[in-house]
Amino acid sequence: DASDIEKGTYPHFMLKEIDEQPVVIRNIISKYKDSDDKIQLDGNIREAMKEADRIYIIAAGTSYHAGLVGKQLIERLAKKPVEVHIASEFLYNMPLLSENPLFIFISQSGETADSRGVLVNVRKLGYRALTITNVPGSTLSREANYTLHTYAGPEIAVASTKAYTAQMAVLAILAVDTAKAQGYDIDFDPIYELSLVATSIEALCDQKETLEKLARDFLSTTRNCFFIGRGLDFYVGLEGALKLKEISYIQAEGFAGGELKHGTIALIEEGTPVIALATQEHVNLSIRGNVKEVAARGANPCIISMEGLEDVDDAFVIPSVHEYLTPIVSVIPLQLISYYAALHRGCDVDKPRNLAKSVTVE
Ligand code: G6P
Repeated sequence: DASDIEKGTYPHFMLKEIDEQPVVIRNIISKYKDSDDKIQLDGNIREAMKEADRIYIIAAGTSYHAGLVGKQLIERLAKKPVEVHIASEFLYNMPLLSENPLFIFISQSGETADSRGVLVNVRKLGYRALTITNVPGSTLSREANYTLHTYAGPEIAVASTKAYTAQMAVLAILAVDTAKAQGYDIDFDPIYELSLVATSIEALCDQKETLEKLARDFLSTTRNCFFIGRGLDFYVGLEGALKLKEISYIQAEGFAGGELKHGTIALIEEGTPVIALATQEHVNLSIRGNVKEVAARGANPCIISMEGLEDVDDAFVIPSVHEYLTPIVSVIPLQLISYYAALHRGCDVDKPRNLAKSVTVE
């Protein structure tokens, strides 16, 4: 029961939940592998994924950000087209659907009213649904045809951390399973790659002092902050901005690397923090070009790169992991930076104003 969960020696649930992420990833590996160390999902889920001509991912908030990463994984590994939609938009503005769609609902709580509204509608239309949730007995789980459990354990802090990384790990497993179901010979072992991810997260959780200093240097007095990245890094930037907004109340926005200059760059003043992610080799040069553009207008850039792609001026370097799984690792410094920024600004980290852990009204 969630009310029995204690913080132990931690000052906040959020910090405890950030630290739990290596264990959560290892737990997911052990739950989803069979005795041969292979991934094998429920045959019904396999079939449903295989038969679908298009996947529609529906979610809200942080879970929507996990969905964006999930789209990339499913499209790259399983070669199936995926659309990702904000639940509350889909509800009143349904796109044209493919002939044989499968709906995937991503929800930590399994109770989000916006997502449930879509689920009820698509079930009425006769479509099948899979829910990826941290609460298997939840409404979204019960009302869908299939469920994948994220095994993150109860998440108490309002700002989601471990549930998000768990969702992406499960989406990676689902993508691989779907690829195999279709007979694709893929060069990506999720068990091995996710275990490297767990080790990398552990190493990052040991660098709290460095990240606390970064938060102090870049965020202790600023009014706003921008996150930029390309590809998967863009999606992580969206999540980094959301985390920062939620708990520190700093106005933050995530942008695709090339997009800031098409308008928002007007907001850059002397010292405006711009946090850039550089974990994707094929866009490393272009994201660094974008950093130069904003720095030339006075921005204070903070580059978080990945080992192997780093430059001398980078503020922080994450350990190298498979390029598909970088979001699960690169979000960790963003979570910790947000945590320390909120702490320094005297905010209520676990219970930010105006927010609820699960929003059960539309
Ligand atoms: C609320 C929470 C967010 C969460 C969103 C979706 O707004 O404050 O942290 O991402 O709901 O929740 P879900 O439980 O569906 O993932």
